[in-house]
Amino acid sequence: MKYLIANWKAHKTIYEVDAWIRAFSQLDASVIKGNLEIIICPPYPFIYYLKDKLQSFPFCKIGAQDISYFGRGAYTGEVPSEALSGIVDYVIIGHSERRYYFEETSEILFQKNNRAIQQKISPIFCIRDSGDLIPPKAQFVAYEPIVAIGTGKNESVENVLAFKKRLHLDKTKRFIYGGSVNENTISEYARCNEIDGFLIGSASLYALHLIKMMYHILPL
Ligand code: PGA
Repeated sequence: MKYLIANWKAHKTIYEVDAWIRAFSQLDASVIKGNLEIIICPPYPFIYYLKDKLQSFPFCKIGAQDISYFGRGAYTGEVPSEALSGIVDYVIIGHSERRYYFEETSEILFQKNNRAIQQKISPIFCIRDSGDLIPPKAQFVAYEPIVAIGTGKNESVENVLAFKKRLHLDKTKRFIYGGSVNENTISEYARCNEIDGFLIGSASLYALHLIKMMYHILPL
């Protein structure tokens, strides 16, 4: 199974989401035969809308881009795991932008990871380098070197594989690469069995680019 994770970050209006869905709906869903999962992670207001609109694409799942450190309660503006439960299947935790702009520490991120798991939401835990700790219960580990995010300087396949080797991940964890993956760069990684999927920012904002990436990783 390969995973294509679309991280929309703080992009898109509801009109742009509709346009994205219209473009994505041109995809011939019959080409996907259970070997690929597309995980769309939009801003919170679009989560339920997308889930509803993409029902005819069973290989499309919805993820959140973050989850609250707190549980349910008096935490104005927070979105706790309880609120996401039953709506999303995945959540991105510890993206480098959260670590940088919101100063999220390993302690905070481990707690978020636990909260997701308690609600049966699979965490996609991001690390920037080997200095970032990985929670023992992380299900997906996404390696995103800072220099590769949004820069067009994607890490070479050799470096990604060497990095993975140094992590000594247990076999239950899926390994994801992210950082300037697009329809031009994806195929070199897609050939590697050691890479289970991709976390895609800018290129995932365009439905047709995402479809092209899907075709690149399908065994046609
Ligand atoms: P990018 O972003 O694909 O635009 O480099 C990746 C990410 O930040 O998850």
